[in-house]
Amino acid sequence: MEKPLIINHIYDKHAGILRIRTGERIDSGNAVSFGQVVTTLRQTCPGGRIIFDLEDLKYLSSMGLRVFLKLSKTEKNRISVVNVSPEVEDIFRMTGFDTFFDLSRKMRRVSLDGCAIIGRGANGMVYRLNPDTIIKVFRPDADFSVVEREREKARAALLKGLPTAISYDVVQVGDSYGIVFEMIGSKSLADVLKEDEAHFDRYAKAYSALYKEIHSTEGDVETFGREKDIYEEAIEYCSDVYTPQELEKLRLLVRNIPERTTLIHGDFHPKNIMLIDGELALIDMGDVSTGHPVFDFLATAATQVNLLKLDPAFAEQFTGMPAPMISRLWKSLMEDYFAGKSTDEIRQIDHRIAGFSKLKVALAPYFARDLNEAVLHASIQDARTNLLPIIDELARGFE
Ligand SMILES: Nc1ncnc2c1ncn2[C@@H]1O[C@H](COP(=O)(O)OP(=O)(O)OP(=O)(O)O)[C@@H](O)[C@H]1O
Ligand SMILES: [Mg+2]
Repeated sequence: MEKPLIINHIYDKHAGILRIRTGERIDSGNAVSFGQVVTTLRQTCPGGRIIFDLEDLKYLSSMGLRVFLKLSKTEKNRISVVNVSPEVEDIFRMTGFDTFFDLSRKMRRVSLDGCAIIGRGANGMVYRLNPDTIIKVFRPDADFSVVEREREKARAALLKGLPTAISYDVVQVGDSYGIVFEMIGSKSLADVLKEDEAHFDRYAKAYSALYKEIHSTEGDVETFGREKDIYEEAIEYCSDVYTPQELEKLRLLVRNIPERTTLIHGDFHPKNIMLIDGELALIDMGDVSTGHPVFDFLATAATQVNLLKLDPAFAEQFTGMPAPMISRLWKSLMEDYFAGKSTDEIRQIDHRIAGFSKLKVALAPYFARDLNEAVLHASIQDARTNLLPIIDELARGFE
């Protein structure tokens, strides 16, 4: 039986990724058809990157190479070739065609036998592989594109000069994907603040400085995506929860946030910051995006201000710190980040951010899918009572 030219394709419109898994051979017998099939697929799945998954490819002839070459011209730098076997990699390299694409080898398989667990989060478990590296193993249902995107964002953020771990390859661990990262300190900022409270102010200042450093880094939308797109998707996701009028108000609020292409972390909290040699470093880069810094503030405030009121025990668990410390850190962030403004101005900014943070609370069905029913219900109620009535006022007047 003839083997298929293309085994499957997956289009993730949101991530802007078309992933095409090829068959075993692309040679003079099928290269023309392969080119035609890819062109047709591209027309129905436009925009973003094309990832060719060569997991099954065993042979590629000059005709096959020419199809990739033509595509590299029409698609500019938007092609990646992944899961390349050593034999196929040789063909790309010896012909010099490797210079046209971003090639990556077949995924390694990693065994966790004897590896200690060093952390756990919403996405999965983190294990120590060896003294220098850790592996973040995603839940088995995690999509490859989500995993690859986190690796890519972490890599791009490090290239931008932000302090974060080296991200090595995406690997296979049993039925799950994992990312191998540089081991970047063994204590989180939350741990250090609790252990060394005497130096709280010094750490808190470094925390604010890191926040500012992210927000003074320009990010390209192609690599990092737009935070506004995520919020728009979140609003659509909640279309069964809110009335059409309420949804329109939420959309208006997002629309009125000024366009920016600065980087935002998206999940900035003291458990996502590690201490290394007295310096702070960021981890958990899967939500890094571009947008106005208010998106970072509203996400941080959603847990450090809102959740703290709604469910203090949960906020303590989430941030890894006792409630008074969470408030102290938030206050210090406001004062340091907005240094130079009067106490009254800072109070007003704080108040506005608290308002904006209800946007994330309102969209909890999308952003916090693991939340228990009671907290989810309380979040929606909170948004109805405290956000929707003031949303027009909040949407106006952005400096
Ligand atoms: N590069 C690293 N070096 C050292 N420890 C790490 C590293 N990456 C992760 N960890 C540890 O693993 C924990 C979980 O990692 P991470 O925050 O990336 O996972 P997550 O599932 O995305 O978490 P979240 O629940 O915040 O979304 C961290 O809190 C930290 O203790
Ligand atoms: Mg985390």
